[in-house]
Parts: sequence; structure tokens; C-alpha cells
Amino acid sequence: MLNADEARHSARVHELLAGEIAAAAGWISFERFMELALYAPGLGYYSAGAHKLGLGGDFTTAPEISQLYGACVARQCADVLRALGGGSILEIGAGSGRLAADILARLESLGQLPAEYRILEISADLRERQRRYLEQRMPHLLDRVRWFDRPPEDRFDGVVLANEVLDALPVVRFRWYRDRVEELGVVMDEARFGWAARPASAAVAEACRRLYAAAGAGDAGAGVAGAGPAGVAGDTSAGFEWDDGYVSEYCPRLGAWTQSVTGSLRAGAVLWFDYGLPRRHYYLPERHEGTLLCHFRQWAHDDPFLNAGLQDITAWVDFTRLAEACRPAGFELAGFCTQAFFLAGTGIDHEMRSIAGEDGNAFARLANQARQLLLPGEMGERFKAMAWLRGIALPLCGFALQDLRHTL
Ligand SMILES: C[S@@+](CC[C@H](N)C(=O)[O-])C[C@H]1O[C@@H](n2cnc3c(N)ncnc32)[C@H](O)[C@@H]1O
Repeated sequence: MLNADEARHSARVHELLAGEIAAAAGWISFERFMELALYAPGLGYYSAGAHKLGLGGDFTTAPEISQLYGACVARQCADVLRALGGGSILEIGAGSGRLAADILARLESLGQLPAEYRILEISADLRERQRRYLEQRMPHLLDRVRWFDRPPEDRFDGVVLANEVLDALPVVRFRWYRDRVEELGVVMDEARFGWAARPASAAVAEACRRLYAAAGAGDAGAGVAGAGPAGVAGDTSAGFEWDDGYVSEYCPRLGAWTQSVTGSLRAGAVLWFDYGLPRRHYYLPERHEGTLLCHFRQWAHDDPFLNAGLQDITAWVDFTRLAEACRPAGFELAGFCTQAFFLAGTGIDHEMRSIAGEDGNAFARLANQARQLLLPGEMGERFKAMAWLRGIALPLCGFALQDLRHTL
């Protein structure tokens, strides 16, 4: 049940979307629908501040589960900052501010604080919430934190990082037939949103054909056999066909977006954390209904039309596409592994002992949190970490225990 404020807000978002559909002669692309539902100024899920993060909110991210996550990310950042002789951090989409605070706290104890901790946050409401949270947790470090509502332009050395942001970028939804491609869009069916297909534009059809060829052709599977912990085992993609009616998504703006948010990094590392797969596993025939995932009060489902403006809408990340987006910008792919291996490589066991000290109860609590972060059935395999380096070369501890770059 929605409360009165939520119902009012959702009705306004619904009205905005319905107006957009009417103005476009009855049909808008799903990409446009997702963009408005999440980002419409003052109304979208991320711009209006309707969303709630953390244990009592719509969804729970790794930093919200445990400070261990931020501590491990901090250890990776510390290596990079040390190799550079200092520098800053830019976090994209900082949510409640918890990850920023945990990273700063651990970097302080490692003696490796960044000159600046920059936060690029699209939501004015979250920027304010992050400021309050950091002010309360670490007032002495607040003057190092600087917020941006668009990608900063002044160049810096250091680290760019984002946890669970890529999955919120709007995607095109398509339906594949042997002899044609359709784009799925949104229409009004009475007063409700409904799916409707149109012949895909030449650009969308071509993008899908390239995906099909890249995902299914040739030697898919080579080098992947036995890569169990990646969540990419059981590779059945060699020589597959998509059946008629196969539905999936891709993110056309990923290239332009990643370049805009990493453009100011002169030398250092970019760390991406999100749920997703390499392309040839993403577009397997059995994943024929796509990867849309919506969150409303800890309820995960695949209906983006519910509770307009009140629920998160996401799609899994095609990490091969992300690699294609980062490489032309002069970055070297330095690592790709599951979240579990990233956390093991950055010393989650050491962090547990160091945080808990002699306190057995604290250790048991942290061990429970670590299980959620590490276990394959929880977040350990679905979530991946990817690292890029520009202008420096150094071994990255988070990527030392598993190398899945060959799966991309
Ligand atoms: C799923 S939340 C993740 C929050 C946090 N990183 C965490 O892991 O808890 C997504 C965050 O990204 C922000 N965001 C979404 N799209 C963005 C964009 N295009 N640019 C910057 N921030 C964005 C949201 O406002 C929110 O803070």
C-alpha cells in the first residue's frame, strides 16, 4: 500500500509519462520511459528523492550491508593513491554516503587520505543526505568532500569509482526475429502503461545484429570452461541461435556516459562495481526475457510499469560493452573478476579481524555480513568488479586472485 504522499507523487509521474506518450503519437521507446521514470527533473525516482536506500529501503547495496565493503575498496584506492604519490577520488552516485564515509575512514587509518573526495550525484536530495551523513560521521573530513551535479571538468589524478550506478542507465529493449528486429516501447492501455512493439530503426536493428553476432558467433566458450566462480560457468553459447521472439536490452548511452564521467581523470584507476555478465553470457538463448530488474521496498521483480517514480528500474550490465566504452578513452583493462574475489584479494579477512579486534560478537556480526557479500548465491558472483588504468601501471590487489578478462 502506498501512503498518500507516495500515491500523489506516483500519480504525477504517471501523468508526466502519459503526457509524453500522447505527445509522441501514442508510443515512446522503453529507453525514454526509463529515463523519465528515473530522472525526470523533480519527479523521477533518482531526481525527486522518493527512493530509500539501505535495509529499510527499496534495495540494499553492498556498502549498506557492511563497512567491510568500503574498507576493501579503500585498500584498493590506497594502492593507487600511493603509486601516484597522492590524488583525489571521484565517486559517482554515492547513495546514502555510506560508501564514501567507509572509504574515507579506512583511508585515514591507512594514512592515505585523498586530497579531495569528489561526489558526482544526480539527485539533489541525495547530495543533501550524503552531506548530513558525512558531517555527522566525520566532521573533520567534510572540507575534503566536494559535490558535483555534473561531471567535473578540472583534471585530476586518482580514482574514479561507481557502485551500482551503471545498472540504472536507460536501456533499449528489443525483440528479435530471424527476419526482423522490433523495438519495444510503451503505450497507454486505458489508463495503464503497456508494451507495444515497432519495427526497429536502422540503428537499433544494426546494433542488435552486431550483438547477436558478437554474442553467439564463433568460438564462444573458449577459455571459459571451468570458470565456475565467475557466474559464467556452463557456457552453452557456442553456436547458439536466438529463438524468434527473443527479448533483451542494451544500453546505447554507455559509451558517451562513461567517457563523460571518467574524462577528467588524467592518471589513475577507474573501478566499476555492478551486477552483470560478459556479453556472450548476457545474451544466452535461455535469458530470453531480458534482464530488467525493479526494486520496490526490497521486492525485486521485472515490471517497470508499477508505481511510476517510486521504484528503481535497472538492467544488468553487459561488461563487454563497458570494456568497449572504456578502451577508446585511453584506458588499459587492468582487471575483471567477481565481487567475491575482489573482496578476497583486498583482504576482507584481514579487515574483519582488524575491525572486530577482540570483540567476538562483532566478529560474528561481520562474518555474517561477509557471507552476504561473498557467497555465490548472495552477491558474490552476480556482482563483478572491473578496473581500468590510465597513465600508470601497477598490480591491483583486488584483481590478483581471479582474472576473467578473457571472458569479455
Ligand atoms: C543504486 S544507487 C547506489 C548508491 C551507492 N553507490 C551504493 O552502492 O549504495 C544509485 C546511485 O547513483 C545515482 N545516480 C543514478 N544515475 C546517475 C547518474 N547518471 N549520474 C550520477 N549519479 C547517478 C543515484 O542517485 C544513486 O545515488
